[in-house]
Amino acid sequence: EAELLHTFKGIPFTTRSSPELLKSLDTFDAREDDVLLVSYPKSGTHWLAGVLAKLYNTQVTITSPIEFGDISRLEELNKLSSKRIIPTHLDYNMLPPNFKKKKCKMIYISRNPKDTAVSMFHYYRDNPNLPTVDTWTAFFDLFLKGNVVCGSWFDHFLSWEKHEDENNILFLFYEDMKKDLPKVVKDISLFLSLNVSDSDIQDICRKSSFLEMKNDTEKENNDPSHTVCALTSNKKLIFRKGAVGDWKNYFTPKQNIRFQEIFNEKMKLSKMADNFIYEC
Ligand code: A3P
Repeated sequence: EAELLHTFKGIPFTTRSSPELLKSLDTFDAREDDVLLVSYPKSGTHWLAGVLAKLYNTQVTITSPIEFGDISRLEELNKLSSKRIIPTHLDYNMLPPNFKKKKCKMIYISRNPKDTAVSMFHYYRDNPNLPTVDTWTAFFDLFLKGNVVCGSWFDHFLSWEKHEDENNILFLFYEDMKKDLPKVVKDISLFLSLNVSDSDIQDICRKSSFLEMKNDTEKENNDPSHTVCALTSNKKLIFRKGAVGDWKNYFTPKQNIRFQEIFNEKMKLSKMADNFIYEC
């Protein structure tokens, strides 16, 4: 049980990320045309990956995350001849420096941390790669302490937000995708300099709805080496509810006050904090 997680540079990882791989990330060879798909777990990573896969009409590969597997992964990623879209849950500070030096395009997707916490609670319960949690109350405390896989939501978000003014990084919000997916897809296509017509965008959005994606996944075979999130290869664990505001069904009024206090304190210098304040 306790062995399911190990800590590297202060951040908990699952055993699906080997310490040797994590240690060698600094040597990772980035390519100028790599695109990184960055998120804290449960922020809409698979949804965004689904959109990106449909946006390109040239050969691209959505690889498994850089931090997934053992040391042989780096070699595998090196050998890939097509353009690479590389998912990762890494904190900015742990990102291989070559991605920064080469100014690779990066898309960071985030989601209201209250909904992220609820989504992660269910993921902890369903995903055999994560430790057992007995109750929502217990998980709530772990989440606020940052004592969960990938560490503190606040630290993760803030480490990336510091680089908000760099124009090779695009910040997206799950709630915006729920509200107006065509607009977000348009923004992504502009950021990636892809020529996509309005009718293509409509088509992509239709195929990226929660139900379409959930159905597609149920038809797919489970390929253990293909994974978008380093925490599972089983996509069936991903499509749970896909809603905004589910936290209201879990947070007690007291928990909400406590969360909000910590949020206000940690995010007091954040320029993007307002993106997470809605229907509170
Ligand atoms: P819930 O657990 O709240 O349902 P990730 O891919 O980063 O692990 O994030 C998973 C979350 O994104 C899950 O949230 C999942 O349901 C939601 N999600 C996945 N595909 C979606 C889609 N097409 N539309 C809306 N939400 C989606």
